Amino acid sequence: MTTTSSARTVARGARGRAVPVFNELRLHKWTGGRPCTLKELEAKYLRQSAGSSPDGEQGWLNWGLRRLSDERVVGTVQTTLSPLGTPGFSAELAWVVGSDHQGNGYAREAATAMVKWLRTHDVVEVTAHVHPQHEASNTMARALGMTTTNVVADGEVLRRGSGSWFEAACDGEDERAATNF
Ligand SMILES: CC(C)(COP(=O)(O)OP(=O)(O)OC[C@H]1O[C@@H](n2cnc3c(N)ncnc32)[C@H](O)[C@@H]1OP(=O)(O)O)[C@@H](O)C(=O)NCCC(=O)NCCS
Repeated sequence: MTTTSSARTVARGARGRAVPVFNELRLHKWTGGRPCTLKELEAKYLRQSAGSSPDGEQGWLNWGLRRLSDERVVGTVQTTLSPLGTPGFSAELAWVVGSDHQGNGYAREAATAMVKWLRTHDVVEVTAHVHPQHEASNTMARALGMTTTNVVADGEVLRRGSGSWFEAACDGEDERAATNF
C-alpha cells in the first residue's frame, strides 16, 4: 500500500467512471464550486497524485472508494497533512460520496479507515471545516470524535479531534466499501 498510488488508481484507472459519480451540482451544495469536466478531473488527479503541495509544505493524500461487490467508484476521501510545531501532523479531512451511493455508510466507514491509517502515520490531530447545516458531514465529524470550535471560515465551522479521539472514533468499522489504502 502506498498513498500516492491510491490517487493514481483513481486518476488512471477510473477517471472516466469517476466523472458521472461526481458530476453533480448537489455535491457542491455546502462546499461551493461546481463539478469538474473529465479534462479538469484528470488534471486535478494528476496534481493530487504528486502527494504534496508544490512547496513541499503539505502532504496530499487521496483515496478513491470502490465498492467491493462491483468495483464501482462511489466516492473519495482526502486529507491535507501539515506539520505541527510539536512532533506529529495535523490532518484536514474531506469526503465526497456520489448521490446515488449516499446513505449506505460508505463515507463514515472510509473516513474511519482513513483516520485509523493516519493515526499510525504520526497524525495527532484531525480537523474538518463543515457548514453548520450540513447534517451528514456534522454527523461524520462527531462520529470521528471531532468537537466544534469557535473558529468559522467562509461560513464553515472548524471541527477538531485530538487526544483520545482515535480510540473513541474507530470502533465499529465494517467492510462494506473497499478503500485503496
Ligand atoms: C457528506 C457525505 C460524504 C456523506 O456520505 P454518505 O456515504 O451518505 O454518509 P454515510 O452514509 O456514511 O453517513 C454518515 C452519517 O451521516 C448521517 N447522514 C447521512 N446523510 C444524512 C442526511 N442527509 N441528513 C442527516 N444525517 C445524514 C448518517 O446517518 C450517518 O450517521 P450514522 O453513522 O450515525 O448513522 C455526502 O453527503 C456528500 O458527499 N456530500 C457532498 C460533499 C460534501 O459536502 N462533502 C463534505 C466536504 S468535507
